[in-house]
Amino acid sequence: MSGKFITLEGIEGSGKSTSLETIQSFLESRDIQYITTKEPGGGPIGKELRSMLLNKESKISSEVELLLMMADRRNHLDNIVLPSLEKGTWVISDRYLDSTYAYQGGGRGIDISKIDNLVNLLNIPLPHLTLLFDLSPVIALERAKNRSELDRFEQEPLVFHGRIRDEYLRLSELHQERIKIVDSSLNFDEVESQVKETLSNFLDEE
Ligand code: TYD
Repeated sequence: MSGKFITLEGIEGSGKSTSLETIQSFLESRDIQYITTKEPGGGPIGKELRSMLLNKESKISSEVELLLMMADRRNHLDNIVLPSLEKGTWVISDRYLDSTYAYQGGGRGIDISKIDNLVNLLNIPLPHLTLLFDLSPVIALERAKNRSELDRFEQEPLVFHGRIRDEYLRLSELHQERIKIVDSSLNFDEVESQVKETLSNFLDEE
C-alpha cells in the first residue's frame, strides 16, 4: 500500500508546529511509518530558495515569489514526498499547496486561475488530508511576534493575514472532504483532541 500524504496549514502563529508532536505520537501509537517535512525548503534546492523567499532584503515580485514556491514544491515532491509515499511511508508536511493559494492568491492578490495553471503545468498532486489550523489573525500574530524576529511574510500588516485566512476558509468549503478545520482558539488539550479525532476518522475511512 502506498503511504498517505497529510499537510498542515494555517496563518502565522496558528499552532501548526505545536500540533506536529501530537500527530507524531498518534501515528506512532498506530505503528505507522512516517516522515515529517516542510515547505518552503523541504527539497534539495530548498535551503537557498527558502532564504530568498523569507529574507526581508529580497527584492522579488509576487509573481516571482509564486514561481519560486512552485519550483520548490516540485523539487520537494520529486526528491522527498513521492519516493516516501511509494515506499509506503506517510508524509506529514508543514505547509504545502494550499499555502500558495492562501498567501500568493489571497494575500498577494494573484489570480487563482494563474495558480491553477501552474498546478496543471507542474502536475502537482493534492494531499490525502489537510488539517487547517484556524485562528483570528489578531491572536495569531501576537503569538508569532513573541516567537522570534519577523520574516518577510510575518512583517506584513494584519489585513494581509486576514485575506490569507479568508482564502483558507474558502478552500476548506471547496474541498470539504480533504480539508478539516481545527479551531486553534481553544486551549491546548482541546486542540490536541480535535487533531486526534480528525486523524482517527481519517484512518477509519481508509
Ligand atoms: P515558515 O518560517 O516556515 O513559517 P511558518 O512557521 O508560519 O510555517 O515560513 C514559511 C512562510 O512561507 C510562511 O509565511 C508562509 C509562506 N508560504 C507562502 O507564501 N507560499 C507557499 O506556497 C508556502 C509553502 C509558504
